[in-house]
Amino acid sequence: MYKLIEGKKIADQVKAEIKQEVSDIREKGGKIPHLAAILVGHDGASETYVAYKQKDCSQVGIESTLFHYEDDLSEADLLAKIEEINRNEEIDGLIVQLPLPEHISEQKVIEHINPGKDVDGFHPVNVGRMVIGLPAYISATPAGILELIKRYKIDTVGKTCVIIGRSNIVGKPLSILLSQKKYPGNATVTVCHSRTKDLALTARNADIIVAALGQAEFLKSDMVKEGAVVFDVGITRVPSENTKSGWKLIGDVKFDEVAPKASFITPVPGGVGPMTRVALLKNTLLAAKKEIYS
Ligand code: GUN
Repeated sequence: MYKLIEGKKIADQVKAEIKQEVSDIREKGGKIPHLAAILVGHDGASETYVAYKQKDCSQVGIESTLFHYEDDLSEADLLAKIEEINRNEEIDGLIVQLPLPEHISEQKVIEHINPGKDVDGFHPVNVGRMVIGLPAYISATPAGILELIKRYKIDTVGKTCVIIGRSNIVGKPLSILLSQKKYPGNATVTVCHSRTKDLALTARNADIIVAALGQAEFLKSDMVKEGAVVFDVGITRVPSENTKSGWKLIGDVKFDEVAPKASFITPVPGGVGPMTRVALLKNTLLAAKKEIYS
């Protein structure tokens, strides 16, 4: 019988811990953490994500400010806004919601954010520091998965781990973190992607599988060995008549088939997603406390 990794429940616990810490800071007259988010345009999913992030902040007592611009905002104006926020001592963390309109270079934007305020952990300085094991902001989804591994005391030492997907914000950083010489880590990591030959054979060898390719119900039971630990990062939106919003989320794992073979597995929704959200709060708290860059 598999054990469900209850991301929502753990995220609520972590949120309560953060709320307590913010409240302690407030009582001592310290600096209340403050997150700024920049959103350009009106992409529905992006608007939803940013609204969630603001709601999360208010639930734990973190201040947040949204800078929302029309999609004809010039790249130069966006960069100027980022520089202004970089200089603003009131703001501890800054995220620029992606994707951006085509006329704006995402890489240029990311590189403009002060690494000390880059609570998304996307800046090359943070990525580089993470790679060599220096204190750094870790991007939210890998950080959330590591937290779940810790809280469920999942053994990673010497385990074979297969990560499906090589994105800069999930697959790539997670592959590095899980092979680091500390816990959670010391795993033997293989990254699979669209050009991998016989992915099923590779995945079937894994003690831990992370499905992060963004393809609904990709991971089937014949790709999973008995007793594997399975993390599902997928969040494909599909229309649904049974929800108020008119859509529902589908993971990258065919849950009903895979769960009976797994030892631990995350559901979608309520698995990795809530931990991703909470990781941003943790990074914002770290930013306010100047724990990564003093
Ligand atoms: N778009 C999708 N995921 C993310 C994220 O984690 N941060 C930002 N800034 N944009 C995103």
